[in-house]
Amino acid sequence: MRPGDDGSSRAGSGWRRVLRTGEGVTADVLAPLKEAADAAASRAAARALRASPVRGYDPAMKNAEFNDPRLVAVYDAEYGWGRDDDFFLSVVGETPGARLLDLGCGTGRLALGLAAAGHAVTGVDPARASLEAARAKPGAEHVTWIEGTSASLPERTFDVAVMTSHVAQFFVEDGEWDRVLADLVRALVPGGRLVFDTRDPADRRWERWTPADSRRRVRLPDGCEVETWTEVTAVRDGVVDFTHHYVFPEEELLSVMTLRFRAEGELHDSLRRAGFGVERIYGGWDRQPVGEGNGEFLVIARR
Ligand SMILES: C[S@@+](CC[C@H](N)C(=O)[O-])C[C@H]1O[C@@H](n2cnc3c(N)ncnc32)[C@H](O)[C@@H]1O
Repeated sequence: MRPGDDGSSRAGSGWRRVLRTGEGVTADVLAPLKEAADAAASRAAARALRASPVRGYDPAMKNAEFNDPRLVAVYDAEYGWGRDDDFFLSVVGETPGARLLDLGCGTGRLALGLAAAGHAVTGVDPARASLEAARAKPGAEHVTWIEGTSASLPERTFDVAVMTSHVAQFFVEDGEWDRVLADLVRALVPGGRLVFDTRDPADRRWERWTPADSRRRVRLPDGCEVETWTEVTAVRDGVVDFTHHYVFPEEELLSVMTLRFRAEGELHDSLRRAGFGVERIYGGWDRQPVGEGNGEFLVIARR
């Protein structure tokens, strides 16, 4: 889920916003990309809907949202460019021509925008279906795509690394989070920056992920409508389990997810242990202080 993810749809808002307010990227650069992206999304959605479930496929697969082509099409239809992307674009823009790593790049929305802004972008993600959607988008040839995790990263290669749309919360166990941070330290050049978002547990966002508040209809580029909602199934010690439901005309699919909500002190400690210095933590997309923004921690750390 993306910022403002209390169940309200953000579909369609994104590209319009960038064309109006994008920092460091001109409308001339992004307008043709948008047109071609819409056409590519249409083709990808049609392909995804024709695809039949693979043998042994579990319709309630963990993180199916990123691994099932039909749900990847829903993700792309729902989540266009947004104010979170503007934030990351502006922070990365502080390092002109950065060699940039987008870890957990998903379907490539931000990676492609950053490449269009002149950065040398590598997108890494373990979800093949999401990467296939990314590779089919216009401008994809300007990004290096790697199917993998932080363990696949080359050493001392990147000036900036980002993890966006709460990728950091997918690393639930502390040992896993520590390993990812250690991999990122190795992958960055000395002085390189790590930038990521993670939700502030004090905001208790999961309490707004109810079926009633989150129910919405998403229209795919081919006109097919999917009804979707979210249901939290367990909350314990900063770990939240939930299920996304997707009702297609022909069947219902589920995506089962678990996210970790780390407190600000836990972020500081883990980053310091890994060898990062914390430069700033903002609380919102307009760089508000923690507690006064959008219930986010927007972390900027330096190797
Ligand atoms: C909410 S999506 C965000 C995608 C993209 N960053 C965006 O802004 O749309 C979370 C992404 O994290 C990826 N992910 C999950 N586990 C991961 C891991 N161990 N290493 C890297 N990425 C992972 C998922 O495959 C998914 O694409």
